[in-house]
Formats: sequence, C-alpha cells, structure tokens
Amino acid sequence: SLSRVYVTRQIPPEGLKILKESGQVQFELWDSDDVPVPRKELLQKVKGVDGLLCVLTEKIDKELLDAAGPNLKVISTMSVGFDHLSLEELKNRGIRVGYTPEVLTDAVAELTVALLLTTSRRLIEATHEAKTGGWGTWRTLWLCGYELANSTVGIFGLGRIGVAIAERLAPFKVKKFIYTDVAPRPELAKQINAEYVSMDELTKRSDFLAMCCALTPETKEICNKNFFSKMKKTSIFINTSRGGVVNQDDLYEALSTGQIAGAGLDVTVPEPLPTSHPLFTLKNCVILPHIASASYTTRNAMSALAANNLLLGLRDEPMIKELQL
Ligand code: GLV
Ligand code: GLV
Repeated sequence: SLSRVYVTRQIPPEGLKILKESGQVQFELWDSDDVPVPRKELLQKVKGVDGLLCVLTEKIDKELLDAAGPNLKVISTMSVGFDHLSLEELKNRGIRVGYTPEVLTDAVAELTVALLLTTSRRLIEATHEAKTGGWGTWRTLWLCGYELANSTVGIFGLGRIGVAIAERLAPFKVKKFIYTDVAPRPELAKQINAEYVSMDELTKRSDFLAMCCALTPETKEICNKNFFSKMKKTSIFINTSRGGVVNQDDLYEALSTGQIAGAGLDVTVPEPLPTSHPLFTLKNCVILPHIASASYTTRNAMSALAANNLLLGLRDEPMIKELQL
C-alpha cells in the first residue's frame, strides 16, 4: 500500500516528478512557494503521515512529531542545514533524516564569492551612486575597497563548502588560507593548502573571514563583540551559513564604529530580516535574502535528492544522503 507523505512546499519540479512517478507514495502538498505552510495547518496535515518532506522554514520539533504520531518514520529536508530539526527528538523516536549536502556546494561557493566581492568592492553602494547622481567625477579614493590579491582568507568551519570557496578564491591570488574548526581537518585542508589556527588567530589574521560552519549550540552567536573586536579594521566578514552564528547587535556595533570594514550576509535572524532593522541602514553591510543555493540546477538537484531520500527511507533502504543521528 502507498505511504502517506506531506510535502511542506511546492518544491522544484524534478522532486515532484520523482514522487509522482514513484508509485510508492500518496502525497499532499502545501501548494505554494511564496508563503510557508501556516504552523496550524502543518500540525493538522502531518497527522498520521509516514514521511515528511520539508524545507528550512519548518521547525521539526517535539510538538510537530507528537502531532504526526507513531507512523512517521522519515523526515527529508531539502537543505544541507539541519538546525531546524530537533535531532534529539528524532533520534529518540527512531525517525530517519535525509538532507541535501554536496549538490549545493558549487552554487553556495559561487554565491559566497559573489557576496565577498560585492562587499569588499562596494558594488551596491557603487551602482546606487551611479544611478542617483553621486558620480560627480572620477575620484582617487572614492568607493575604494579591499582586494583579494595578497590577502589572508580565514574559513570558520572547514567542510566541503569552505574548500569550494577557497578553490574559487585561490585564482584571485590569495596569499594564505587559514581555518579553524573543532579539530584539524587535514584531508580537506591539504586540498587548499590551508593552515589550522585557533579561533583567536583566525579573527586576528583574516583579511576576509567566511563563516562556513553549521549552527549548533557551540557556534550560536560565536561571532560576538569579543570576536569582532579582534578583527582588523580593514577586514570583511562574510556569512553564508546561518544567521544564528552572529550576534547581530554586536555586528552592527562593529560595522558602525569601523571596528571592521564590511559585512556580507546571506543569512540573518530572523528571516526575513525586518526592513526596519538597523543593519539595513549601513552602507558597509550587504544583505541578501538567503539565496546561496538558488540556481535552477541546484534547487532542482536538491528537490530530486530530497524526494529520493524520502522514498528510500520509506522503503527502509539506505538514503543517498542521510544524517547519522
Ligand atoms: C540552505 O541554507 C540550506 O541549508 O540548504
Ligand atoms: C555541506 O557542508 C556541503 O558542503 O554540502
């Protein structure tokens, strides 16, 4: 008999096609991509399902798992991040979890480089000046920024994404890659010739500092006043991981007082960041609406991987990408 599944978003077509053609599931869908399923509706829809395909806007916590009931055996999230999942609860209930690493590494690395250059070379300010009459003449120090050539790039959390970012930055003649993590990652580090350093050293030495870690209790608001105070006044901070790793009040302070030169953020707390947020008033802060993996190719690959993980999990087979709880 068919497994019952709820899909919390109108996901890209490749994944939906896989579910439809599987002959394995009967699924219901929140048929919109513009607004997330309301929590109340979600709690009703999950009642009795065997599987759930979700995105990162859905909190998969005790309340939801209680509402779903004992049939639920697979959660498949269309994301590499899993901070929206209560892993302890899932583990205790023996629920398996699929996610979508690797397929998004190229897209995230590309976007991170784009955001870094946009921030360091002040591109948003520059286009604004050009179209609003600020372009009086060619000026010697106007809109000057910071270059990658001969710089030290620091990576906080060296995983596949950090490596992919470094590989793309190396041709810009970066002088040195350094990284910090809970422990050295020699296999990954040697691919990019990166030196393992303490967090303290990372903050002090980096001209560009990219956050590439997962959000966990250990990394929550790790970028705080103390962290920013050690960074160079000429340094650029980039975050394409999770907004929760940053204390945004402390970041605002660091940017507005010139403690650091600029910040490029693809992720914030909350999301969306209210348009009245003080960070939006700063010229040296570039804020994107969480689009790092947003290429057509990658989002379809994530959709397909999430669908396949779900189907495999429901058949009690190993998933293509499964979290070890
Ligand atoms: C995006 O942020 C993801 O986790 O895939
Ligand atoms: C996750 O860390 C990835 O690189 O896909």
